[in-house]
Amino acid sequence: MKNRKNIAVFASGNGSNFKAIAEAIKSGKLPVQKCLLITDKKNCLARKKAKAFQIKDIFINPSGHKSRKSHEQEILKILRQEEIEVIILAGYMRILSPFFLSYFKNKILNIHPSLLPSFAGKDAIARAFNYGCKITGVTVHFVNRKIDGGPIIAQKSLAIKKGISLKNLEKEIHKIEHRLYPKALKLFLNNRLKICGRNVKIC
Ligand code: GRF
Repeated sequence: MKNRKNIAVFASGNGSNFKAIAEAIKSGKLPVQKCLLITDKKNCLARKKAKAFQIKDIFINPSGHKSRKSHEQEILKILRQEEIEVIILAGYMRILSPFFLSYFKNKILNIHPSLLPSFAGKDAIARAFNYGCKITGVTVHFVNRKIDGGPIIAQKSLAIKKGISLKNLEKEIHKIEHRLYPKALKLFLNNRLKICGRNVKIC
């Protein structure tokens, strides 16, 4: 594989993690040749951020398809045309099917706002907060068939301060995400990660 890779970031919402990655690329911190944004939401903020960074963004409308498979096939066609090698999920609100995953085995990363395996799935920050956790955090992991269940690349914990509001906790979590994701991605793109069962070794 060549040194600089072609990556696609998938996002559905704010795109703050996408922005952190775009900034890391712009400042030369990541070995990326080409970056593309794929979205499933026409008016999501992530698209505006792509424009600001002059990153090509492609909206692939799921409602224009009669099945998840045909939506995914359209995405795969574009990824092939753009010669994408790595997929970065950053708030992409769709579950990728085993059919899709088979084309990118161990080449898809995701970020999750909790210390997995705790609070996998939606609304992780609020669920940890409402559960009364004293510690929460962020996880970057490989994507496999199990939701938020792939081998863990990096984690960062965060103590939940007494009396903090959910809103402020969310802000703190996002700050951590924006540092952790580019770091983990850098390790991956530099071929420093080796998956051994559930374990990811950093070489
Ligand atoms: C982040 O909290 C990420 O961990 C989760 O979705 C959120 C996306 O936020 N998977 P943003 O769109 O990157 O701001």
